[in-house]
Amino acid sequence: MKQETLTITDNRTGQSYVVPVERGTIRAMDLRQIKASAGDFGLMTYDPAFLNTASCRSSVTFIDGERGILRYRGYPIEALAEHCTFLEVAYLLLFGELPEERQLENWVSEITHHTMLHENTKKFMEGFRHDAHPMGMLVSTVAALSTIYPEAKAIHDADNRLLQIKRLIGKVPSIAAMSYRHSLGFPYVYPDNDLSYAENFLNMLWKMVEPKYVANPVLARALDILFILHADHEQNCSTNTMRSVGSAQTDPYLATAAAAAALAGPLHGGANEQVLTMLDEIGSKDNVPAYVKKIKEGHGKLMGFGHRVYKNYDPRAKIIKWTAEQVFEVTGRNRKLDTALELERIALQDDYFVTRKLYPNVDFYSGIIYQAMGFSPEMFTVLFAIPRTTGWLAQWQEMLLDPEQKSARPRQVYTGEDTRQFVPIEQRVPAVVKT
Ligand code: ACO
Repeated sequence: MKQETLTITDNRTGQSYVVPVERGTIRAMDLRQIKASAGDFGLMTYDPAFLNTASCRSSVTFIDGERGILRYRGYPIEALAEHCTFLEVAYLLLFGELPEERQLENWVSEITHHTMLHENTKKFMEGFRHDAHPMGMLVSTVAALSTIYPEAKAIHDADNRLLQIKRLIGKVPSIAAMSYRHSLGFPYVYPDNDLSYAENFLNMLWKMVEPKYVANPVLARALDILFILHADHEQNCSTNTMRSVGSAQTDPYLATAAAAAALAGPLHGGANEQVLTMLDEIGSKDNVPAYVKKIKEGHGKLMGFGHRVYKNYDPRAKIIKWTAEQVFEVTGRNRKLDTALELERIALQDDYFVTRKLYPNVDFYSGIIYQAMGFSPEMFTVLFAIPRTTGWLAQWQEMLLDPEQKSARPRQVYTGEDTRQFVPIEQRVPAVVKT
């Protein structure tokens, strides 16, 4: 009979161990019993960047990177993008089920009534330099909400937790829009409760002197779809940060700010901004072959290509490509799309990219849409952070309710000096500084 176990023979001692295998995983702590001698600490695994380590059990998001599959709570991303609104998907991610009509109505109403910011938050934001990067403003302002809602520290109180979740989902678009208006030198716009989540965000961004802002329905729906696609992506860098910071029982505002800071990096959510810089550098589709050659020679990376998990076409990139066509019917075609399409065509035929399984990821086309909609590149990561806040919160809550989780604290393999004799300062030779 097939046994769900693994037998390990330690060649240092000749001893064998049997450890259980559950869902294709062994527990790292089962290795600790494997010792070379009596005083030995026990075997550990070494896994920089968590390439092959599951840090949690999660029922939120499923990804099959080899087959290009993404599901939230079991529902394929394609179906959710086609049939749902972002807030419906947010409900699904947080509570595990799609809401029925009445539940959705209440949920939308509750989020809508949490979009206002305390006037102190507005004043805080006014203090930023006129050219402050909106992502820096978002990270700092979300952290500052922790000072406005000190009761958020009671993270074990379910009602309190839910209130902070609603506040964060409601307020992050308001902060995002204000950070954008700040960079343009425009007055901040207050939320409009008559509008949907995406429409209200567009209202807070673009409203000028008209008494009522009316969003273009195609653009509002495109933004909502982009929000759905970006809502969660299991244990990526920022979600891991959310769980790691949250595991110290930090309040959700500070944990979300930390997660957003991780998202700001160019290898994570900052990549879409880099894609546009790259497309500008390439200039036109005729220059694509020379650019690809340069990349293959080791000069930089093709931004928006490759993914730690997807070794196939990112399913989100497919939907974004389709959404781009809808947006361009309203805004006119962005010339960069032709360069991007040519880049994709050439790269997907090239042995370098094929053998390394490098396909366009979610960031490859999103920046082109955002630019066509009128956003400047500094805003792109902020647009990613708005929906991902929901994913971070769903994962944070799951982590808090998981009895197996403790404060996250990895081990290390120490490679430094053994004990050294202390040398008084007057006897030391000039230090050779390692950087
Ligand atoms: N362009 C050219 N070569 C690449 C690229 C790329 N975009 N990505 C990976 N490679 C190459 C690497 O140089 C490496 O080649 P080698 O085996 O000859 O050394 C090989 O492919 C494997 O790459 P790794 O860096 O080991 O792959 P990893 O899974 O660690 O990296 C990552 C994933 C960070 C996303 C990487 O593909 C990358 O930097 N892409 C560009 C940035 C980007 O688009 N980031 C967005 C990711 S999606 C998101 O966060 C929302």
